[in-house]
Amino acid sequence: MPDASTDEPWFRQAVLYQIYPRSFYDSNNDGIGDLNGITKKLNYLSGDSDSLGVSAIWISPFYPSPMADFGYDVSDYRGVDPIFGTLDDFKRLLKAAHQHHLKVIIDFVPNHTSDEHPWFKEARMSRDNPKRHWYVWRDPADGGSPPNNWLSEFGGPAWHYDESTGQYYLHSFLAKQPDLNWDNPEVRKAMNDSLRFWLDMGVDGFRVDAVLWLSKDPDWRDDPPHPDYHPDRDDPTASLNPIYSRRGPHLFEYLHEMAETIRAYPDTFMVTEAYPRQWDNTDAYLHFYENIDPEVSAPFNFEAISSPWDAKEFKHIIDNFQSSLKDGYLPIYCFGNHDQPRLAGRHGGGAARTAAMLQLTLPGMPVIYYGDELGMTDGEVPPNKVQDPFEKQVPGKGLGRDPERTPLLWNNKKNAGFTKGEPWLPVNPNYVDINIERQQIDPKSSLNLYRSLLKLRASSRALYSGDYSSLKTPDNVFGFHRQFRNERIKILLNFSDQTIALPLKLASGKPLLSTYLDRQITISQLRPNEGIILKD
Ligand code: GLC
Ligand code: CA
Repeated sequence: MPDASTDEPWFRQAVLYQIYPRSFYDSNNDGIGDLNGITKKLNYLSGDSDSLGVSAIWISPFYPSPMADFGYDVSDYRGVDPIFGTLDDFKRLLKAAHQHHLKVIIDFVPNHTSDEHPWFKEARMSRDNPKRHWYVWRDPADGGSPPNNWLSEFGGPAWHYDESTGQYYLHSFLAKQPDLNWDNPEVRKAMNDSLRFWLDMGVDGFRVDAVLWLSKDPDWRDDPPHPDYHPDRDDPTASLNPIYSRRGPHLFEYLHEMAETIRAYPDTFMVTEAYPRQWDNTDAYLHFYENIDPEVSAPFNFEAISSPWDAKEFKHIIDNFQSSLKDGYLPIYCFGNHDQPRLAGRHGGGAARTAAMLQLTLPGMPVIYYGDELGMTDGEVPPNKVQDPFEKQVPGKGLGRDPERTPLLWNNKKNAGFTKGEPWLPVNPNYVDINIERQQIDPKSSLNLYRSLLKLRASSRALYSGDYSSLKTPDNVFGFHRQFRNERIKILLNFSDQTIALPLKLASGKPLLSTYLDRQITISQLRPNEGIILKD
C-alpha cells in the first residue's frame, strides 16, 4: 500500500485492475463468472503477501440485462443480474474488497439502456407516452428511410423503425440499446440519482461508458464521408467522420453534472471512456480535464493501445501528453480492456513484459486488464462459439471481442479451474503453461514480474506520484526519470529484440529490477526486450 500519510485521495496513487465479471471466476458452476466468484478470489488481488498487489478494481457491468451486449444493455440501473448474483452479494463483495484494501469502481452505462428497460417499454407504447422523450425519436425521411445517415458502432444504420408508432429511434450501438435523450432534464436526473444509489452504498467511483455519444447535433446533420476509409480493411463505421453523431455541444455539461454528483461523496472518482478518433488526440483528452472536474474525474488515455511498438513513438506520445497536463490532471494510461486485442501478442512475444514495466512506472493510475498480468493471449473462438454481437453483425473482420474475454486461467485442471460447468467462452488451450498457480511458483513468471513492479511502485513515492521527464537514449530505447524530492528512479526500456549498449552517462545507478527477473543486470547494456529500473 502506498504511504497513507500523503493525504492524497486514493485514486491519485492507485493501480486499477479491470474485472470482466463473466470471465473472472465462476462460483456456482453455471459456466459464467459471478460476484461471489470475485469475492472468493480477492486474495489473489490484494491482502496476502503473495497477492498481485493492485489497489482498486473496476467491475464491468453486472446490472440486470438481456445480455445482448453482455451487460452494456442495462434493464435496471439499480440491481444485479441473477446470472451474477444478488444485490446482497454485491454488498458483501464491496465490504470484503474494502477489507482487502481494495477500492471498487463500477461501470456506468449512461448513453443507452436495453430496449427491455421499463423506460423504453413505456416510451415505445405511444408518441405521447410520458417516457417518449427519454429516448431519441425522429420521423422517417422522405420515402420512409432513416432520418439521417448515422451509423451504429456495431454495423448498419443507427436508426431502427418502430412499426407501431411510425417513427425511428436512435441506437448508436445495437438496436437493443436505444440511446437515452440526455437533453431531457428528467433523464439526467434519473441517471444522476442512479449514481447516488451506488455511492450511498459505498462504491468508490465509476468507469463511465461510451461518453462521446451523450450529446448529439441538435440539427441532426449527416456525418460526412471519411476520406481515408478502406472498406476491406476498416470497421464499417469508419466510412463516416462522426462529427455530428458524437461529441455534441452539451457533452461536457452533462459529464460535469455527473462529476458534481460524485464530488458530493468524499474520495470518489470517475474515469470516462472516449476514444479520440479523427481529431488531434492530445487535445481531445485535454478537453476532458478542462471541461469536467479534474479533481474527481479523468479520461482513459488509450494511445498505448493503438500505437506501434516503437520507442520513439511512445516517447513522443508520453512526452506530449505529460507536458500538456496541468497540475492535478491525473493521467490514466490504459494498455488493454475488454474491447481490444490482448496486450501479450499485440506487439509480439517479447514486448509484453517491457510494456508491463512501462505502464507500471508511468505517472498516474495504470489500468491492468484481468489476465494481462499472466501474459494471457487472445483466445481462439470458433464460429459456432461466437458470443460477441459485433462479430455476429460484422463477421470475419477480426472486430469481435470474444478473444480478449475468455476465462481467467487459474490452474492446469479442467477449464483452467475457472468453472466445473461449461465455460461461456472456450478456455484458452495454452492454460497448461499459462496459469496463476504455475506462475505463482515460477520466480521468473509474468505474474511475478507484475507483483515485483507493483511492490516497487507502492514503496516508491517517486514512482507512484513523482514527476516525469524523458531521457536522451540510443535508438530503440525509451528512458525516463521519475522523481520525488531527492528520490530519483530511472527506467530504461529496450523496444527491440537486439542487445543495446548503453552510453556511460545512462549506465549509472543501482539496479532495482529487470524484466528478466534475474540477478544479472549489467547496466552497460540492455538485453533483447529488457526493461530495467535503477535508483539514480
Ligand atoms: C463501450 C464498452 C463496450 C460496449 C459499448 C456499448 O465501448 O466498453 O464493451 O459494447 O461501450 O456500451
Ligand atoms: Ca456463475
